[in-house]
Amino acid sequence: MSDLRSVTYVSRVTGSMSEAEFTLLGIEAGRFNALDGITGLLVFNGERFCQTIEGASAAIDDLLGRLRRDPRHDEFTVVNDEATETRRFRSWDMHLLVVPSDKQAALDLARTRFEAEADYTARAKIYQTVESAFA
Ligand SMILES: Cc1cc2nc3c(=O)[nH]c(=O)nc-3n(C[C@H](O)[C@H](O)[C@H](O)COP(=O)(O)O)c2cc1C
Repeated sequence: MSDLRSVTYVSRVTGSMSEAEFTLLGIEAGRFNALDGITGLLVFNGERFCQTIEGASAAIDDLLGRLRRDPRHDEFTVVNDEATETRRFRSWDMHLLVVPSDKQAALDLARTRFEAEADYTARAKIYQTVESAFA
C-alpha cells in the first residue's frame, strides 16, 4: 500500500510579502522539498496562501509542524487531508503561482496557464488549490 498523502491548507500572510520575497520563499521551500520527497503547489493572492503538499505521511507531518510555527503566516487551516495513490505534482518540488486578488480573475489565469496540462487530475487539483485561497 502506498504511504502517499496529500494535504491542502490555507493561511493568511502576516505583514506584507513582495513578489520577490515570495519567489525566495519558494526557492527555499523547493530545496527542502527535494530532500524530503515533497512536491506541490503554492498559490498566493496577495493576502492568502493556499498550498497543496504531497509526499510520505511522516514527511508531511514534519513539514506541517514547521509551517505552523512559521511567523510569515497565520490563520493556518487544513482544508483537505487525504491518502493518495499517485502524485498530482510529480515534477514540482514546489510550484509557485501568484494570482490576482479577484477570485474570477485568479481562476481565469489558472485556466489559461494550465489548460494544456495533460493530466486531468492534476488540473483539477490546481483549480481546487487556487479556489481554496478565496474560501
Ligand atoms: C506560505 C509558506 C509556504 C512554505 N512552504 C514550504 C515548503 O513547501 N517546504 C518547506 O520545506 N518549507 C516551506 N516553508 C518554510 C517553512 O515554514 C520553514 O521555514 C522551513 O521549512 C524551514 O524550517 P525551519 O524554519 O523549522 O528550519 C513555507 C513557508 C510559508 C510561509
